[in-house]
Amino acid sequence: MPPSLRASVSLDSGWRFLRADVPGAEAPLFNDSSWSSVSVPHTWNALDGQDGGSNYYRGIGWYRKHFTPAASLAGRRLWLQFDGVNQVADVWVNGVRLGQHRGGFAGFRFDATSSLKLGQDNVVAVKADNRAAADVAPLSADFTFFGGIYRHVSLTGVDPLGVRMGDYGGPGVYLRQRSLSDASASVEVTTRSWNNRGSAARVRVRAVVADHAGVVVGESVSAVRSVNAATGFDTVQTVTIPRPHRWNSKADPYLYSASVEIIDADTGVAKDVVTQPLGLRLASVDASSGFSLNGKRLRLNGVNAHQDRQNAGWAVSADQQREDFDLMDEMGVNALRTAHYQQAANVYDLADARGYVVWTEIPLVNEVADTAAFRANAQQQLLEMIRQNFNHPSIAFWGIGNEQKTSNTATNNLLRDLAASVRAEDSGRLSTYASHIGDLDPVSSHADLAAYNKYYGWYDQSSTGPGAWADRLHARDPLRKIALSEYGAGGSVVQHEENPSPPVTTSRWHPEEYQTLVHENSWAQLKTRDFLWGTFVWNMFDFAVDSRSEGDTLGRNDKGLVTYDRSVRKDAFWFYKSQWTDTPFVHLN
Ligand code: GCU
Repeated sequence: MPPSLRASVSLDSGWRFLRADVPGAEAPLFNDSSWSSVSVPHTWNALDGQDGGSNYYRGIGWYRKHFTPAASLAGRRLWLQFDGVNQVADVWVNGVRLGQHRGGFAGFRFDATSSLKLGQDNVVAVKADNRAAADVAPLSADFTFFGGIYRHVSLTGVDPLGVRMGDYGGPGVYLRQRSLSDASASVEVTTRSWNNRGSAARVRVRAVVADHAGVVVGESVSAVRSVNAATGFDTVQTVTIPRPHRWNSKADPYLYSASVEIIDADTGVAKDVVTQPLGLRLASVDASSGFSLNGKRLRLNGVNAHQDRQNAGWAVSADQQREDFDLMDEMGVNALRTAHYQQAANVYDLADARGYVVWTEIPLVNEVADTAAFRANAQQQLLEMIRQNFNHPSIAFWGIGNEQKTSNTATNNLLRDLAASVRAEDSGRLSTYASHIGDLDPVSSHADLAAYNKYYGWYDQSSTGPGAWADRLHARDPLRKIALSEYGAGGSVVQHEENPSPPVTTSRWHPEEYQTLVHENSWAQLKTRDFLWGTFVWNMFDFAVDSRSEGDTLGRNDKGLVTYDRSVRKDAFWFYKSQWTDTPFVHLN
C-alpha cells in the first residue's frame, strides 16, 4: 500500500479548560492561566454529573490550546479536525472564527490554512455547549448528554492537489461494491478531489486494492485530465478483484484495503493518498427468512450499546472500547446497534476487524421540531454519518431514528425524507427505524426495514415475551421485514429475589434474577422466529441517564447485562453466553 503523504499531528494534549462562558476567551492574548489543564478526549460531566436528579451541568465550556505547527507544513492545506464535540462547537484560530458545528456525534473539520502561522505560537479556542438546542437532534432522550471535546483533535496538512477534505467530514474516497461472485468482485471507487493550487494541473488518479497481506490484487489508473485552478473534480473508476475473499461476519471478517493516489501527471509524483478498509460481502433481508450474509442466513444475535463509561462519560479511551468488544465477543454477540447515534471511528474499525454486523443511526430520538432548521440539521447529521462511515463493511443498516412519540405530519415527512436520503446516498445498504407506537403506524413504514422496541415483562407486562406479538405482526403483514430493536429489563446487582415473578415495579425494585427471567423467556421465543431479521438486547452495558433513579443506582439505566464500570457480568450475560457460544463455562485443568 502506498504510505500516507499527509502530515498529521495530534492536538489532544495541553488544553486549558473552564466550565463556564467567558466573554472574549477566543482572543489570542486572553489570560487562561487560572483554567484547569486537561487533555482531550475530555468531558466536564464525568465525575460530578452522574448522581441522578437532572442536575448535571448543561451549558458552555471553553477550551484553549497554544501550539506551534511545524514550518515544514508550508504549502499544504491545513485542516483542523474534531472527532466529536457535544453538541454545538464554535472554533477560532488566533481570534479568527473558523466556524460552528451543530451536532454532538459526527466528526467535523475546518480549513485553517489562512489563519495558522507556521513555526510560531498559535491559539485554538473552542466554545462547546451541551444545552438542548431547538434545531439539533436529539431534543430529548434517555441518556446523559455529556459536554465537551469528548473525542480526538488533530491537524492534518494535505497537498493542495489532493482528496477533498470538506465533504461532510468524509474521507473523500467512497467504495461501492458493484458485483461479487466466487470468480471476481468489482468495486467502483469514487474519489472527490480538488486542485487548490493557484494554477491548472494535469492529474491522474490511481486506485489499488491490496489483500490482507498487503499484496496488490486489483488496480485502475485513470486517464490524465486537466484541472483548472481552484476546481473540484470527481473520478469514478472500477477495480476488479479476482477470486475475492469475502468478509464473512465473525467466522471470517476478511479485510482488503483500497488506496487512492492523486498523481501530478507532469512529474509523475503522487501528491495525496487515502487508504480505506474494504470488505466484500452480500447482505440482504427477506421478510420470511430474515438476514442473510453471503447467501446464507445469519441470525443476528445483537445488542445495543451506548458510548459511555464510569468516570469517563463519553470520553471513552481506545482500551476501554476494546474491552467492551472483548465482553461482547465473550458473550457471543455478532450484531451491534450503536443506539442512539454515530459513535467514534474506532468502534466501526473494531466492528470491521471482528466481524460484527452494525446498525448505526442518527440521534433522532423521541420528537422532532417542525422547523426548516431542525430538518436541515437532521439531514446534515445523516449525511455526516453516511459519508464518514461509508467504507466500513461492518455497517449493514443506516438508522433514521428511534421511538418518535407522535406520528404527526412533521415526524412522518421527516422520516420519509431521511429514508429517501439514505437511498440517494447509499443504494448498497438498507435504512431502518426503531418504533414503539402502533405496529403498523406510518412511522414504522418509511425505512426499508421495520424494527420495534418491545419491553414484554417490563414496561409491558401483558405477556412474558415477544413471541406472540411477532407472530401476530408477521401474519398481518407477511411482507414486512421485522426486527426486535430493543428488549430487556432492569437488573440490579445488589437486589435479589429467589423466585421473582411479575408484576414487578419498574421504578425501584430491579432484582437481577427477574432480568434474567425476562431474557430467558424472551430468547426462548425469539430463537425460533426465523422471519425476524435481527434481535437486539437493551442494553449490553448499564449507561448514564442523569434523570433516572431506579434499582439501587441513581443516574443510571440498569438494563445492561454488564455494569457501568464493567466489573460485573450479570446473570443474564452468562445466560446469553450459554446460548450464543460454544465456550465451556468451566475449565478443568
Ligand atoms: C427506550 C429507548 C431507550 C431507553 C429504553 C429504556 O424505549 O429507545 O433509549 O433507554 O427504552 O427505557 O430503558
